[in-house]
Amino acid sequence: MKLSVIGTGYVGLVTGGCLAEIGHQVLCTDSDQAKLGLLQAGQLPIYEPHLEGIVQRNRTAGRLCFTGDIGEAVRFGDAIFICVGTPPLETGDADLSAIDLVARAIAGEARSPKLVIEKSTVPVQTGQQLQRALSIYGRDTGTTFRVASNPEFLREGTAVSDFLHPDRIVVGVDDETAEQQLREIYRPLTERTFNCPVHETCPPGEGPPFLVTTINSAELIKHASNSFLALKISYANMLADLCDRLGANIEEVTRAVGLDPRIGPHFLRAGIGFGGFCLPKDLQAFVRLAERAGVDFRLLKEAESINQQRIDRFVEMIRQAVWVIRGKQIGLLGLAFKPNTDDIRFAPSIELITRLLAEGAHLRAYDPQAMEKARGVFPQVSYAGDAYEAAEGAEALLIVTEWEEFRALDWARIRDSMARPLVLDGRNLLDPAGMRRLRFEYFSMGRPAPSS
Ligand code: UGA
Repeated sequence: MKLSVIGTGYVGLVTGGCLAEIGHQVLCTDSDQAKLGLLQAGQLPIYEPHLEGIVQRNRTAGRLCFTGDIGEAVRFGDAIFICVGTPPLETGDADLSAIDLVARAIAGEARSPKLVIEKSTVPVQTGQQLQRALSIYGRDTGTTFRVASNPEFLREGTAVSDFLHPDRIVVGVDDETAEQQLREIYRPLTERTFNCPVHETCPPGEGPPFLVTTINSAELIKHASNSFLALKISYANMLADLCDRLGANIEEVTRAVGLDPRIGPHFLRAGIGFGGFCLPKDLQAFVRLAERAGVDFRLLKEAESINQQRIDRFVEMIRQAVWVIRGKQIGLLGLAFKPNTDDIRFAPSIELITRLLAEGAHLRAYDPQAMEKARGVFPQVSYAGDAYEAAEGAEALLIVTEWEEFRALDWARIRDSMARPLVLDGRNLLDPAGMRRLRFEYFSMGRPAPSS
């Protein structure tokens, strides 16, 4: 099928690339000319595993193209995916102005019937507004527009695999034609008739369930999913605090709790809290949405406030361990909001660095992918060429993102190069017994040292 993708951020680029990979003709556009320039020159503006190969391969095959002309993009596809950002406003509401602009452009430029698909995360009832905007601004062209909601459940770092092997495909539609078009778009995934570029053999099992809902339900499913994930993390973080106080071990507790299939093992990792461009903003937007609908979703407000207090807790742990923070050399391992991405938006590292700088610490940080982005935000931090350099001469080393490569470091070498062998592990990445054997002073979240 001929498909258009508007917006080439994390979601748009993965969507466009993967739709081409499963056999469609895809034309992507973006209002950011610098980003488009990179893409047209064969470079990626973001780091996401497997994406570069997909983009290159499909550009060469002529299935994936980029244009700066939104009119051309709108006229190209029978279906148009809207993948523009919906950042948070001061109020916590989602800013829908980019969606509004795109709706007007689609309405003004379309010359044939279009299926307009919301991929961006939007509050419930956006579909109705979108349909209305398309009808109003497109009234002179005589074109018909159908609207659908098709929320994405991509996680940064595993987005390509998540797209090709989703747990579920959710489509919110209000007519049969839209449903059929979406079934056709996703047929290679539901019937597993594509060559998987990620796994040598695809994960076993059948294709994903294809769930057809109303547009309102589909929009709500997205916010409900992300908010529940946030809730689980905050729950685990409170349990971790309790474990610290009472001498229990959070990993033993969550492992056993998570084996109950009604609870599940995922998203129970305690640490310095959730960040990124999705969970924090979606949680806030969902609370605001509920408020507007006259529902006080206090449960989610509490999850948010617990998350905000994680950095207080970590800074307090650092203070307990190093005493006066001012003037101390502190190393940071990890800046990205999670491993396998270069994304630092709403990362816990941002609040942590802000607090430590305000207290007068000297910081030297290392992250395998996110340093370029961090440099723009914190020019006053020094950035190391590798993890060893970040630790050298430091009075404390903080683990902020659980990159797998940090686990495999030569920790004895790190110990010998530090001014004081003190590690505060905000992500429970390392083995406490192993670190103590290596004669580190080692602290983590909810895993206190045995008292005997
Ligand atoms: C999240 C959802 O997981 C995706 O399903 C969704 O599609 C996406 O948002 C989105 O709305 O686009 P993502 O933001 O990439 O994906 O990151 P997550 O893997 O959810 O992690 C979010 C944060 O939670 C990270 O800072 C991570 O370190 C933290 N986390 C995660 C924990 O602290 N503990 C856990 O057990 C899991």
